Amino acid sequence: MDSIIVRGNGPLSGQIPIAGAKNACLTLMPATLLSEEPLTLTNAPRLSDIKTMTELLSSLGAEVSDLQDGKVQAMSSHNIDNHIADYDIVRKMRASNLVLGPMLARLGHAVVSLPGGCAIGARPMDLHIHGLEALGAEIELKEGYLHAKAPGGLKGAEITLSFASVGATENILMAATLAKGTTVLHNAAREPEIVDLAKCLSAMGAQIEGAGTSRIEIQGVDRLHGATHQVVTDRIELGTYMLAPAICGGEVECLGGSIELVGAFCEKLDEAGIQVEETKTGLKVARKNGRVKAVNVTTEPFPGFPTDLQAQMMALMCTAEGTSVLEEKIFENRFMHAPELMRMGAEIEVHGGTATVTGVERLKGAPVMATDLRASVSLILAAMAAEGETVVNRVYHLDRGYERVEEKLGNLGAHIERVKET
Ligand code: EPZ
Repeated sequence: MDSIIVRGNGPLSGQIPIAGAKNACLTLMPATLLSEEPLTLTNAPRLSDIKTMTELLSSLGAEVSDLQDGKVQAMSSHNIDNHIADYDIVRKMRASNLVLGPMLARLGHAVVSLPGGCAIGARPMDLHIHGLEALGAEIELKEGYLHAKAPGGLKGAEITLSFASVGATENILMAATLAKGTTVLHNAAREPEIVDLAKCLSAMGAQIEGAGTSRIEIQGVDRLHGATHQVVTDRIELGTYMLAPAICGGEVECLGGSIELVGAFCEKLDEAGIQVEETKTGLKVARKNGRVKAVNVTTEPFPGFPTDLQAQMMALMCTAEGTSVLEEKIFENRFMHAPELMRMGAEIEVHGGTATVTGVERLKGAPVMATDLRASVSLILAAMAAEGETVVNRVYHLDRGYERVEEKLGNLGAHIERVKET
């Protein structure tokens, strides 16, 4: 397994390009299953999760070619000859469950393995099942697989989600595009990735209103046609790299970023004393004078503070002036980066879903372990301002969500290199 070595350095400067959104691409790719005609995605990120989704779609019979060094995914699903999403693929990546809605809608049946738990939580699918059953699907759990069928096709329905689940909203939205009649989804997730999915589905001929609000209305159509769609900018990669100059000092421009993607996050940066300015080409972030101030954070569904930036924000709070309280309200076990940061000298107390961080002047480099995607990048960020050398192991987690991280941060002046496993 590769590892990444980081040595603490001074202020950063330069520009960093932000890629297309992993979490948008992972729901846009299964949308190809809804149509016999080709769907092409541009601005796709080059990540191992995208390769896993490609593997899954190909196992179902779709043709997926990644062009232009992976930045374009050209897919065609005219010949789906397998409707089983195998455990071996689904357990690697929970987002594999997003083939369930499209396969049900197009083929009338699907067998999808339950993803099983992951490092950050149990990750159940009860809300996905609730919504798809409301559309007329019959779903049964057998030997770890969801066996779903809708022999007479899906029918529009009024559905309310007890929690604004991103994945459940995506599965229900995709399925409803081909259901007979009208579907209204209440308490829908409002993330930019939902808006991007609705934009792509509409380009394919779907009739959708209200994406980005908590009430989405879909008029079912008989079939969807092909389209070409540009994947929206990755707001989590954006927020992650905005924290690099916040932690190290200096000034960095994140190309392709916009305030609307990271509104609540920017409010917290402002409170901490970090300057954020919109430019013609992105967001310029600067920390000019002294230590950042400690701020309190509570993670919420969009437009609240994103859970996917909680670990990275904790890295910033480790050297802030004062005490910060971070509340994780979305996942039940998303503080695994805390013990690793404590190995670097951070002062953190975790009680259930709350972490209290007392800022120290400076962290000290140490060997640390990446445990999940966002935890791993928070360790890189912390290491960039630490004294001495940090070795981050198991960086395969990192490669799931960040393309060429050592190159992108190295270009800003960070001392960071990847050591390939011998
Ligand atoms: C998406 O996961 C993202 N993944 C996650 O990003 C992100 O953290 C999450 O949304 C929240 O924003 C992708 O888009 C591929 P949820 P998802 O359904 O859809 C519970 C990353 O780092 N829940 O909104 O799985 C669930 O257990 C990843 O890029 C149910 O109880 O998130 C969790 O506690 C990590 N029943 C909460 O809701 C269900 O049926 C949020 O889950 C579904 C979810």
